[in-house]
Amino acid sequence: MENLKKLVGIKAAEYVKSGMTVGLGTGSTAAFFVEELGRRVREEGLNIIGVTTSNVTSQQAASLNIPLKSIDEVDTVDLTVDGADEIDADLNGIKGGGAALLMEKIVATYSKDYIWIVDESKLSETLGNFKVPVEVIPYGSEQLFRKFEAAGYAPTWRMNGEKKLITDMQHYIIDLHIEKIAEPEKLAKELDLTVGVVEHGLFNGMVKKVIVARKMGIQLIEK
Ligand code: 5RP
Repeated sequence: MENLKKLVGIKAAEYVKSGMTVGLGTGSTAAFFVEELGRRVREEGLNIIGVTTSNVTSQQAASLNIPLKSIDEVDTVDLTVDGADEIDADLNGIKGGGAALLMEKIVATYSKDYIWIVDESKLSETLGNFKVPVEVIPYGSEQLFRKFEAAGYAPTWRMNGEKKLITDMQHYIIDLHIEKIAEPEKLAKELDLTVGVVEHGLFNGMVKKVIVARKMGIQLIEK
Protein backbone atom coordinates (compact mmCIF):
# COMPACT_ATOMS: atom_id res chain seq x y z
CA MET A 1 0.00 0.00 0.00
CA GLU A 2 2.78 2.45 0.91
CA ASN A 3 4.37 1.76 -2.46
CA LEU A 4 1.12 2.54 -4.29
CA LYS A 5 0.74 5.80 -2.38
CA LYS A 6 4.30 6.75 -3.26
CA LEU A 7 3.67 6.03 -6.95
CA VAL A 8 0.72 8.45 -7.14
CA GLY A 9 2.58 11.05 -5.10
CA ILE A 10 5.45 11.00 -7.59
CA LYS A 11 3.06 10.94 -10.56
CA ALA A 12 1.20 14.03 -9.32
CA ALA A 13 4.48 15.88 -8.86
CA GLU A 14 4.96 15.65 -12.64
CA TYR A 15 2.23 18.30 -12.98
CA VAL A 16 4.37 20.78 -11.01
CA LYS A 17 6.61 23.13 -12.99
CA SER A 18 9.03 25.85 -11.89
CA GLY A 19 7.35 29.15 -11.15
CA MET A 20 4.17 27.59 -9.80
CA THR A 21 2.47 28.24 -6.48
CA VAL A 22 1.47 24.79 -5.25
CA GLY A 23 -1.08 23.75 -2.63
CA LEU A 24 0.37 20.99 -0.49
CA GLY A 25 -2.19 18.51 0.85
CA THR A 26 -2.25 16.60 4.11
CA GLY A 27 -2.11 12.88 4.90
CA SER A 28 0.04 9.87 4.20
CA THR A 29 -0.46 9.98 0.41
CA ALA A 30 0.02 13.74 0.04
CA ALA A 31 3.21 13.37 2.12
CA PHE A 32 4.78 11.39 -0.74
CA PHE A 33 3.90 14.23 -3.15
CA VAL A 34 5.52 16.78 -0.83
CA GLU A 35 8.56 14.52 -0.41
CA GLU A 36 9.00 14.30 -4.20
CA LEU A 37 8.72 18.10 -4.56
CA GLY A 38 11.37 18.43 -1.85
CA ARG A 39 13.64 16.10 -3.80
CA ARG A 40 13.17 18.14 -6.98
CA VAL A 41 13.81 21.42 -5.14
CA ARG A 42 17.03 19.92 -3.79
CA GLU A 43 18.28 18.02 -6.82
CA GLU A 44 16.76 19.82 -9.81
CA GLY A 45 16.46 23.40 -8.55
CA LEU A 46 12.66 23.32 -8.89
CA ASN A 47 11.49 26.82 -8.04
CA ILE A 48 8.07 26.81 -6.37
CA ILE A 49 6.12 28.41 -3.56
CA GLY A 50 4.18 25.99 -1.36
CA VAL A 51 0.89 26.79 0.37
CA THR A 52 0.26 24.19 3.05
CA THR A 53 -3.02 22.76 4.33
CA SER A 54 -2.00 21.83 7.90
CA ASN A 55 0.68 22.39 10.50
CA VAL A 56 1.98 18.87 9.87
CA THR A 57 2.48 19.58 6.16
CA SER A 58 4.08 22.94 6.99
CA GLN A 59 6.63 21.15 9.14
CA GLN A 60 7.34 18.54 6.46
CA ALA A 61 7.68 21.14 3.69
CA ALA A 62 9.91 23.39 5.82
CA SER A 63 12.17 20.44 6.64
CA LEU A 64 12.55 19.88 2.87
CA ASN A 65 13.40 23.56 2.27
CA ILE A 66 10.31 24.17 0.14
CA PRO A 67 9.67 27.95 0.29
CA LEU A 68 6.26 28.58 1.88
CA LYS A 69 3.65 31.33 1.90
CA SER A 70 0.24 31.43 3.50
CA ILE A 71 -2.90 31.41 1.35
CA ASP A 72 -3.35 35.12 2.14
CA GLU A 73 0.11 36.02 0.85
CA VAL A 74 -0.35 34.64 -2.68
CA ASP A 75 -2.48 35.93 -5.58
CA THR A 76 -3.61 32.47 -6.57
CA VAL A 77 -2.63 28.82 -6.25
CA ASP A 78 -1.80 27.19 -9.61
CA LEU A 79 -2.32 23.61 -8.50
CA THR A 80 -3.19 21.80 -5.28
CA VAL A 81 -2.57 18.09 -4.80
CA ASP A 82 -4.21 16.34 -1.86
CA GLY A 83 -5.41 12.93 -0.69
CA ALA A 84 -9.02 11.94 -0.02
CA ASP A 85 -10.85 9.48 2.22
CA GLU A 86 -13.63 8.38 -0.12
CA ILE A 87 -14.63 9.29 -3.70
CA ASP A 88 -17.91 8.45 -5.42
CA ALA A 89 -18.60 7.81 -9.10
CA ASP A 90 -19.28 11.55 -9.70
CA LEU A 91 -15.96 12.54 -8.04
CA ASN A 92 -17.66 13.95 -4.95
CA GLY A 93 -15.48 13.18 -1.97
CA ILE A 94 -15.08 13.00 1.78
CA LYS A 95 -11.95 14.49 3.31
CA GLY A 96 -10.77 15.27 6.81
CA GLY A 97 -9.55 11.92 8.06
CA GLY A 98 -6.45 13.81 9.13
CA ALA A 99 -8.52 16.63 10.69
CA ALA A 100 -7.24 19.18 8.16
CA LEU A 101 -10.44 19.63 6.15
CA LEU A 102 -10.87 23.36 6.84
CA MET A 103 -7.48 24.50 5.54
CA GLU A 104 -7.70 21.87 2.79
CA LYS A 105 -11.02 23.24 1.56
CA ILE A 106 -9.86 26.86 1.71
CA VAL A 107 -6.68 26.16 -0.27
CA ALA A 108 -8.61 24.03 -2.80
CA THR A 109 -11.20 26.79 -3.25
CA TYR A 110 -8.52 29.26 -4.34
CA SER A 111 -6.68 26.81 -6.62
CA LYS A 112 -6.89 26.93 -10.40
CA ASP A 113 -6.28 23.20 -10.67
CA TYR A 114 -6.96 20.51 -8.06
CA ILE A 115 -5.91 16.87 -8.07
CA TRP A 116 -6.61 14.05 -5.62
CA ILE A 117 -4.21 11.17 -5.23
CA VAL A 118 -5.60 7.96 -3.74
CA ASP A 119 -5.30 4.21 -3.77
CA GLU A 120 -8.19 2.22 -5.22
CA SER A 121 -9.65 1.34 -1.78
CA LYS A 122 -10.95 4.95 -1.60
CA LEU A 123 -13.30 4.57 -4.59
CA SER A 124 -16.96 3.71 -4.05
CA GLU A 125 -20.24 4.02 -5.93
CA THR A 126 -21.97 6.05 -3.18
CA LEU A 127 -20.36 7.95 -0.30
CA GLY A 128 -20.87 6.65 3.23
CA ASN A 129 -18.13 4.12 3.93
CA PHE A 130 -16.15 6.91 5.55
CA LYS A 131 -17.51 9.16 8.29
CA VAL A 132 -18.22 12.80 7.42
CA PRO A 133 -16.03 15.05 9.59
CA VAL A 134 -17.65 18.30 10.70
CA GLU A 135 -15.42 21.02 12.15
CA VAL A 136 -17.31 22.95 14.83
CA ILE A 137 -16.82 25.92 17.14
CA PRO A 138 -16.31 24.54 20.68
CA TYR A 139 -18.93 26.96 22.12
CA GLY A 140 -22.31 25.24 21.83
CA SER A 141 -20.84 22.08 20.34
CA GLU A 142 -22.53 19.75 22.87
CA GLN A 143 -25.85 21.16 21.62
CA LEU A 144 -24.77 20.54 18.06
CA PHE A 145 -23.75 16.98 18.92
CA ARG A 146 -27.23 16.30 20.33
CA LYS A 147 -28.81 17.84 17.23
CA PHE A 148 -26.82 15.43 15.03
CA GLU A 149 -27.86 12.53 17.29
CA ALA A 150 -31.52 13.48 16.93
CA ALA A 151 -31.08 13.64 13.14
CA GLY A 152 -29.84 10.02 13.19
CA TYR A 153 -26.30 10.86 12.08
CA ALA A 154 -24.66 8.75 14.83
CA PRO A 155 -22.09 11.42 15.75
CA THR A 156 -18.84 10.74 17.57
CA TRP A 157 -16.25 13.19 18.85
CA ARG A 158 -12.84 13.06 17.17
CA MET A 159 -10.52 12.33 20.08
CA ASN A 160 -6.86 12.85 20.80
CA GLY A 161 -6.31 10.29 23.56
CA GLU A 162 -8.67 11.14 26.42
CA LYS A 163 -9.41 14.66 25.14
CA LYS A 164 -11.41 16.05 22.25
CA LEU A 165 -9.09 16.71 19.36
CA ILE A 166 -8.39 20.38 18.69
CA THR A 167 -7.77 21.24 15.05
CA ASP A 168 -5.03 23.52 13.72
CA MET A 169 -7.69 26.27 13.64
CA GLN A 170 -8.68 25.60 17.29
CA HIS A 171 -12.01 23.84 16.67
CA TYR A 172 -13.47 20.40 17.50
CA ILE A 173 -14.44 17.72 15.01
CA ILE A 174 -17.66 15.72 15.16
CA ASP A 175 -17.70 12.69 12.85
CA LEU A 176 -21.06 11.72 11.34
CA HIS A 177 -21.62 8.06 10.54
CA ILE A 178 -24.16 8.08 7.74
CA GLU A 179 -24.24 4.80 5.87
CA LYS A 180 -25.43 5.88 2.44
CA ILE A 181 -25.12 9.49 1.36
CA ALA A 182 -27.31 9.34 -1.71
CA GLU A 183 -27.49 13.13 -2.01
CA PRO A 184 -24.18 14.65 -0.87
CA GLU A 185 -25.26 18.11 -2.12
CA LYS A 186 -28.32 18.04 0.16
CA LEU A 187 -26.28 17.03 3.20
CA ALA A 188 -23.62 19.65 2.40
CA LYS A 189 -26.27 22.36 2.18
CA GLU A 190 -27.78 21.28 5.50
CA LEU A 191 -24.38 21.39 7.21
CA ASP A 192 -23.50 24.72 5.57
CA LEU A 193 -26.63 26.21 7.13
CA THR A 194 -26.07 24.77 10.62
CA VAL A 195 -25.00 27.36 13.18
CA GLY A 196 -21.71 26.46 14.87
CA VAL A 197 -20.44 24.42 11.91
CA VAL A 198 -17.26 25.97 10.53
CA GLU A 199 -16.81 23.53 7.64
CA HIS A 200 -17.46 19.92 6.73
CA GLY A 201 -15.58 17.21 4.89
CA LEU A 202 -17.91 16.89 1.92
CA PHE A 203 -15.96 18.12 -1.12
CA ASN A 204 -18.67 18.00 -3.77
CA GLY A 205 -17.79 18.76 -7.37
CA MET A 206 -14.48 20.35 -6.44
CA VAL A 207 -12.09 18.01 -8.20
CA LYS A 208 -11.77 17.29 -11.91
CA LYS A 209 -8.76 14.97 -11.82
CA VAL A 210 -8.04 11.93 -9.61
CA ILE A 211 -4.89 9.84 -9.85
CA VAL A 212 -5.65 6.34 -8.58
CA ALA A 213 -3.05 3.76 -7.60
CA ARG A 214 -4.33 0.33 -8.58
CA LYS A 215 -2.50 -2.94 -8.20
CA MET A 216 -2.53 -3.09 -12.02
CA GLY A 217 -0.97 0.39 -12.33
CA ILE A 218 -1.85 4.05 -12.23
CA GLN A 219 -5.21 5.27 -13.54
CA LEU A 220 -6.16 8.88 -14.27
CA ILE A 221 -9.86 9.66 -13.83
CA GLU A 222 -10.94 12.97 -15.36
CA LYS A 223 -14.29 14.66 -15.34
C1 5RP B 1 -6.64 15.01 5.89
C2 5RP B 1 -7.21 14.44 4.65
C3 5RP B 1 -6.39 13.43 3.93
O1 5RP B 1 -6.09 13.91 2.67
C4 5RP B 1 -7.17 12.16 3.85
O2 5RP B 1 -7.49 11.76 5.16
C5 5RP B 1 -6.38 11.05 3.14
O3 5RP B 1 -5.28 10.70 3.91
P1 5RP B 1 -4.39 9.43 3.56
O4 5RP B 1 -3.71 9.74 2.28
O5 5RP B 1 -3.45 9.30 4.73
O6 5RP B 1 -5.31 8.24 3.45
O7 5RP B 1 -8.28 14.77 4.20
O8 5RP B 1 -7.54 15.85 6.54
